[in-house]
Amino acid sequence: MGIYHKSALLHTACHFLNIRPGMRFIDATVGGGGHTGEILKNGGLVLGIDQDPEAIAACLGTYGEYVRTGRLVLVKASFTHLSDIAREHIWVPASGVIFDLGVSQHQFAVPQRGFSFQLQGPLDMRMDPDVPNSAADLVNFLPAKALALLFREFGQVNNSRGLAEKIVASRPVETTGKLARIIGPSPQLKRKAFQALRIAVNDELSALSSSLPQAWEILEPEGRLVVISFHSLEDRIVKQQFKDWETSGLGTVLTPRPVAAQEAETLANPYSKSAKLRSILKI
Ligand SMILES: C[S@@+](CC[C@H](N)C(=O)[O-])C[C@H]1O[C@@H](n2cnc3c(N)ncnc32)[C@H](O)[C@@H]1O
Repeated sequence: MGIYHKSALLHTACHFLNIRPGMRFIDATVGGGGHTGEILKNGGLVLGIDQDPEAIAACLGTYGEYVRTGRLVLVKASFTHLSDIAREHIWVPASGVIFDLGVSQHQFAVPQRGFSFQLQGPLDMRMDPDVPNSAADLVNFLPAKALALLFREFGQVNNSRGLAEKIVASRPVETTGKLARIIGPSPQLKRKAFQALRIAVNDELSALSSSLPQAWEILEPEGRLVVISFHSLEDRIVKQQFKDWETSGLGTVLTPRPVAAQEAETLANPYSKSAKLRSILKI
């Protein structure tokens, strides 16, 4: 296995977090620890959360020394429990919170995790292996109408009804390979359909909507929230929430337009191409 994850917009994110020695940050999506490592290097303390136990294990391997000295606390949990976790670890108020959303390259690269339409594996897609329903459960047990809605809402799939009916007629669908064959040759359609399933399995949009206010609540005045999103459905939620806080006089948006990766970064890390970063300062 190569590197766990190559972070997108690493330095931009850290710039917006305004890291100073001794400040406490929350990395709500610790992943391979790219952002966490940068905060630690700059003297900050980190409460790192991830719902994937493999991410927590990877970070423990890389940053065990910081855990031993108390500068890093790692918690395997969903960020939907952000404010409770922060209180439990006496990490309130925090100087900054970062969400680097979506899937890590490690999750994509391991066939057994079932995220990639290019790799043969079980149709799983759960970031947290303890949640009950995998992608196979949705594909095999949802009625065609609900499947079609899922593909339309979360993947913007055009003929979502047609795709859902093809899947229902081919049940059981237990592997990424079988689902990819049913979808057909178009890589774009496969990408959209797999993305839609992943968003549904991990309840990604509701998790984001319910967690941003929790991050806001535990931020100190002058604290900063940074969110990196990878598709328009997430970005819309972030943009709207930031706008609401700003119009209510609670915060100042630091990124009037979302910040994207520069060409040099997208060449070195194609994954960063779809990254959009937004940041807001709490008043
Ligand atoms: C893009 S990766 C983060 C990479 C990390 N910032 C780095 O630089 O290495 C996204 C991570 O967020 C985690 N994640 C996604 N949704 C989550 C949630 N609701 N709660 C906790 N972790 C979540 C995933 O398991 C994944 O490890």
